[in-house]
Amino acid sequence: MTALTKDLIKLTAEAEKKADRDGKFRQKLHLMPPTGWLNDPNGLCQFNGVYHAFFQYSPFNAEGGVKMWGHYTSGDMIDWEYQGVMLYPDQPFDCSGVYSGCAFIEDGEMYLYYTGNVKLEDRDDYDYVNSGRESNTVLVTSADGMHFGRKKLLMTNRDYPADLTLHVRDPKVWKEGGIYYMLQGARTKADRGQALIFRSDDKINWTFHSHVETEEKFGYMWECPDYFEVDGKKILSASVQGLAGEEWKDRNVYQSGYFTVDGDILGEYSLSDYRLWDYGFDYYAPQSFEAEDGRRVQIGWMGMPDCEEYTNRTVEDGWQHCFTFPREVFVKDGIVRQRPIRELEARKKLSEETKNRLETKKYTTYEAYISNIKDSRFSAVLAEELSIRYENNEFIIEFINKRNNYASCGRTRRSVETDHVSDVRILADESSVEIFVNDGVYVFSTRYYPGEPGLRVDAEGAKIRVSELIVNAQSN
Ligand code: FRU
Repeated sequence: MTALTKDLIKLTAEAEKKADRDGKFRQKLHLMPPTGWLNDPNGLCQFNGVYHAFFQYSPFNAEGGVKMWGHYTSGDMIDWEYQGVMLYPDQPFDCSGVYSGCAFIEDGEMYLYYTGNVKLEDRDDYDYVNSGRESNTVLVTSADGMHFGRKKLLMTNRDYPADLTLHVRDPKVWKEGGIYYMLQGARTKADRGQALIFRSDDKINWTFHSHVETEEKFGYMWECPDYFEVDGKKILSASVQGLAGEEWKDRNVYQSGYFTVDGDILGEYSLSDYRLWDYGFDYYAPQSFEAEDGRRVQIGWMGMPDCEEYTNRTVEDGWQHCFTFPREVFVKDGIVRQRPIRELEARKKLSEETKNRLETKKYTTYEAYISNIKDSRFSAVLAEELSIRYENNEFIIEFINKRNNYASCGRTRRSVETDHVSDVRILADESSVEIFVNDGVYVFSTRYYPGEPGLRVDAEGAKIRVSELIVNAQSN
């Protein structure tokens, strides 16, 4: 352990001890940082029955700072236990941040691959795209998921193709046909977003295999790429920076979505159009893993980087951001969909069951399920602030009291075109809501800051069920 590691351990413990644990908007069901800032989910896996969720963590500043990997574990992805920081930025190859990465499990060993970020000191001749930074690929392993060995530097920018800028990051590893493959996100010198594929026979020595890109340029940078197969569909997920133009006009600053892959991603393939994972304001850098029972589970960061119009109200309380609730990705009728993990069922306490309309002011952490919607007649209002409705072939979420910014913190409206709505599942926590539409074909996730609890649903002919969610808030 270096002197720097020792100091970081001490300073992190002090910051976590000082954290205010009483803020009004602390989440019950969604993972949030013990203190300070959280962004991407990292190293998601189930290892010897235990779920592990690491996260990009800056404990010293709610508005971000040098990144490390915080660590939570859980038996069911609902009650989580904070395990402390697992990886500190304490080596020359990761001194500006232990950036995002994945877990790969094999033969009773957990392999964590991540990007060691190095940003060199300020100099006028550095542009931090082609000069002034390093993106290193690093491995650490663990036999128990709690104690990790020494960091091993696997690749530096010199090992990546020469047509790339220095922006290469976020390794995600899988195994196919006895060979290990690693995806990384990249920005080329021609400012095109790409996913790189590396291959290895031993999980340690990696060589460049190929790159994956769209025929036409699609953004300038792809972050956090992920590749998996679910119900026979091959999916390439990427968080894309730099999409502009009409289609992206009323959307978030960056996008998270996927292509379906026809053919072989390692050889000849074609990519479908890009489809968003989520149509809300807060969804970025999702990562998936295969649970031991074969389910494909995905968790996103319920936040959005570089979002100028928005100030997260919880910064005043010393923390910012959370994860989405874990979702199962599945395919039905040929369409990729998402639903909250089934473990949630055991936490539901049915509180109201009715038809047509409902009004309640009781619950803050709840699920409302509106089914059998007739002729797409659906509208709801959450906490007198957030309108959710179907209107003129669009499913819309919209903050109502635009001048009173309290609940929206600057957010306005998001929508998706769809020719009908048949069912809506609303998963609400103290300061977030995730809305699953048409059996998970569309999802909207957003943080919001309700003054008082409240739910009003108007859906003539539909069934409405509201269940309180019984959770032991995370022990952080
Ligand atoms: C995505 C991202 C990753 C990077 C990490 C740094 O939100 O920018 O590409 O590894 O966050 O925190």
